[in-house]
Amino acid sequence: MAYKVTLIPGDGIGPEVTQATVRILEATGVKFDWEIFQAGAEAFAKYNEYIPKELIDSIERTRVGLKGPVTTPVGGGFASINVALRKKFELYANFRPIQNLPHIPTRYPGVDLIIVRENTESLYSGIEHEVVPGVVESLKIITEKASTRIARFAFEYSRKNQRKKIHAIHKANIMKLSDGLFLRCCRDVAKEYPEITYGEHIVDNTCMQLVMNPYQYDVLVMENLYGDIISDLCAAFVGGLGFVPSANLGENCAIFEAVHGSAPDIAGKNLANPTAVIRSAQLMLRHLGEHHAADKIHDGLEKVYRTKDKLTRDVGGKAGTSEFADSIIQFMETSTHVPKQAESSHA
Ligand code: NAI
Repeated sequence: MAYKVTLIPGDGIGPEVTQATVRILEATGVKFDWEIFQAGAEAFAKYNEYIPKELIDSIERTRVGLKGPVTTPVGGGFASINVALRKKFELYANFRPIQNLPHIPTRYPGVDLIIVRENTESLYSGIEHEVVPGVVESLKIITEKASTRIARFAFEYSRKNQRKKIHAIHKANIMKLSDGLFLRCCRDVAKEYPEITYGEHIVDNTCMQLVMNPYQYDVLVMENLYGDIISDLCAAFVGGLGFVPSANLGENCAIFEAVHGSAPDIAGKNLANPTAVIRSAQLMLRHLGEHHAADKIHDGLEKVYRTKDKLTRDVGGKAGTSEFADSIIQFMETSTHVPKQAESSHA
């Protein structure tokens, strides 16, 4: 059987990193039937729509997407494709595991953190308007339904994956109603999981605490904007944005993508590091129940990172995007497989 998966190559470095990832996925032996669609400016040029109806129909059919980064204009132009897809398919949980790879120089070895970010509301509701010239209002929406749903996701994930500690991150000292509601929902859900230690930290303090000692945290759950900022901060613990995967998960479908952007400065030059999309593809394989294939990629990646000359330039190597993928495939083919701890995004 072949898995039908919607593939959005994206733009900038997107096509290069997704193509490398597709080759690696296919080398695992799992069969895929890719439905390939563009989104963003390239889609607009072809279909006159930023998210073509064909793409929406495809995700509704396949229920699984693998996505490259898409450029979003700053301060004007079309709205973020990522935010739009998350809203359209109610992909309410953004799941970002932060884990080191061997031989990537960082100040913090052995980090193992999970960021669970609410993906559909808060200041990302996109409800903004100009009240009078020179005054703009942007609405932060927090609902009991979405807050309870994301808290439950974090606790269920932790229970199933033997995680011991969850912190809810907030600013309820200032935003007493909105973040206060978020916290109340987290506290209510926490009561149902007595085996998991529950704590609360204010978001600004959390940034300092993370930089001082990231090992004090295990799973962090938070609303949209804080999750966006804190997950980039945490990416620095493991070498930067080029290493962090993500899963956008809903009740009925899931889209997997890197945390980094389209990197226009290096696009089309075979320079991009595809690691974050490859790790996102690992999450996708686990979502599909293909743990053996995910473990194979995990082994291949670890072996490449132990071989310095096979790395891409951003991490001090000489390989291009495609050669890096070739090395992973070679290592996978010669691998004597040892099962690894699952980085499952399943709650
Ligand atoms: P970026 O992540 O594209 O680039 C930041 C820096 O990191 C650049 O110097 C780039 O060369 C480098 N970099 C990023 N990914 C890399 C990789 N895989 N290998 C090697 N180097 C890499 O962030 P930036 O410049 O802020 O955003 C560019 C565009 O991407 C914007 O339009 C932004 O809206 C969009 N974006 C899209 C995302 C998505 O589709 N999921 C996520 C984040 C940004």
